[in-house]
Amino acid sequence: MLDERMQNALNEQINWEIYSSYLYFSMSAYFESISLKGFANWMRVQAMEELTHVKRFYNYVIERGGRVLFSEIKSPPNEWESPLHAFQEVIEHEKQVTSRINSLMDLAIELRDHATTSFLKWFIDEQVEEEASADEIIQSLKLNENNPGGLFLIDKDLAQRTFIPPQDIGI
Ligand code: FEO
Repeated sequence: MLDERMQNALNEQINWEIYSSYLYFSMSAYFESISLKGFANWMRVQAMEELTHVKRFYNYVIERGGRVLFSEIKSPPNEWESPLHAFQEVIEHEKQVTSRINSLMDLAIELRDHATTSFLKWFIDEQVEEEASADEIIQSLKLNENNPGGLFLIDKDLAQRTFIPPQDIGI
């Protein structure tokens, strides 16, 4: 059985993961509005991946005999000054998520909850990847500032990203 503090913290993280998806869908809509279809595709894939993170936490709380409780999701922004500005927000957001995952891990260790410690390792690794991929795009955008041809090529590249539903979390 999950400790109540752990359950509350995991439920709070579910809210954050849903907000992450909400934010990235909003960024996708922003990129659609400025005709950067590849960027919009990348953000939609990101939004879908965030929903799989929701599902991982959801499954885990239930598996441990806990209760998933949902709360209000704040509204995301809808406009950004530029693609670079949007991706700078992505990385800032992901850094906050990383810090929250680290706090969850700290709590699991404090409670000597070894099962939750093991479960959270997947997210620790995932956050390294999430920050690295956003940073890579930021570097490309910085190199191509004031270069519409470069932006077009990045857009084409980001159009290639596909969503692969993980097989281990069910529907
Ligand atoms: Fe679910 Fe992007 O962290």
